[in-house]
Amino acid sequence: MGKLISQHVTWVGKTDWQLTKFHGDELSTHRGSSYNSYLVRDKKVALIDTVWQPFDKEFVERLKDEIDLSKIDYIIMNHNEIDHSGALPELMRYIPDTPIYCTKNGENIMRGHYHQDWNFVNVHTGDTLSLGDTTLMFIEAPMLHWPDTMFTYLKGDNILFSNDGFGQHLASESLFNDTVDEGIIMAEAEKYYANILAPFNPMVKKKIAELLGLGLEIDMIAPSHGVIWKDNPEKIIEMYTKWCENYNLNQITIVYDTMWSSTRRMAECIAEGIGEADPAVTVKLFNAAHHDKNDILTEVFHSKAVLVGCPTINTGVSYAIAGLLEMIHGLKLKGKKSAAFGSYGWAPTGTKVIQAHLEDAGIPAVLPPLNMNWVPDNNSLESCRQYGRDFVKAL
Ligand code: FEO
Repeated sequence: MGKLISQHVTWVGKTDWQLTKFHGDELSTHRGSSYNSYLVRDKKVALIDTVWQPFDKEFVERLKDEIDLSKIDYIIMNHNEIDHSGALPELMRYIPDTPIYCTKNGENIMRGHYHQDWNFVNVHTGDTLSLGDTTLMFIEAPMLHWPDTMFTYLKGDNILFSNDGFGQHLASESLFNDTVDEGIIMAEAEKYYANILAPFNPMVKKKIAELLGLGLEIDMIAPSHGVIWKDNPEKIIEMYTKWCENYNLNQITIVYDTMWSSTRRMAECIAEGIGEADPAVTVKLFNAAHHDKNDILTEVFHSKAVLVGCPTINTGVSYAIAGLLEMIHGLKLKGKKSAAFGSYGWAPTGTKVIQAHLEDAGIPAVLPPLNMNWVPDNNSLESCRQYGRDFVKAL
């Protein structure tokens, strides 16, 4: 059944408790997710977004329990990735002529996905649609995180429907942030931002400024994933304002892979050296082959520096480190520093590969790579500690 979230709005989405991977295998979702869809009932009725395709029939059946489908006057599609538009084909079987309000890019994407000549109505920032006592206003938000994205603001109930923006992959029976552990929500919101929105930091910055400039009275921010920001919705806007601007905490993250523990020992001794040189800095170590890649990326996202280590393997690096370097590259992080280290047998080329990738990702090295031949002895491990101390000095 739907859940009333304000005078005119009922949540009619789907909570997906068993989701552990999203975007194929690109993003881990340890705490599940939800696909939030909202039904706005006034003199006119609007449905905002749908749910992921595997739940299309369930969604439409539950929606029928909530309302006679023929009473839906408008469908609003804020964003048309399949987790939000996937139930549209099933819904449109019942109400094929209902106008679908979306951006021009949204129409293009829906046509590309579903190959249907639905009744599309293109909207732009500032366009409004009166529902009676309440009014919808549209705000284009391209590249947050697709070209079609827009927000919809419901004047009257004062809710910003922000789709992926401000979302979290978090399944929760409770719909509101004031009844869920804040630490968990913020951790998931940051992971979402780091892994999905970080490449678009400049657009986020511009959009937040524009949003604040509109002076909207916002009582709730209702994203398309996770809980609704009802208690202090300004908090998540504040965090986005920080996250979109080279968000670097006093943390150094060391990511490594290891075959026979030489590079692991190097990583641990470098960490010791960093800790000795700067007791205030948080140092975290992750084995890229063992830890979740998206959790590591979130740690890198908020670190001021990252050291990446790997033994040389066939003149290059391991599968885990190669994948992680590629993902770091895609995030377009700014204002961070790096260094590379690793063990080798007969040619220390792996660290060159790491350094080149990090520099290409916009994360310059502050020290030359540290290479150790075969298994480091006590002297070599002391050199690793010194490298950690030098790294702190070089930052
Ligand atoms: Fe939640 Fe971009 O889809």
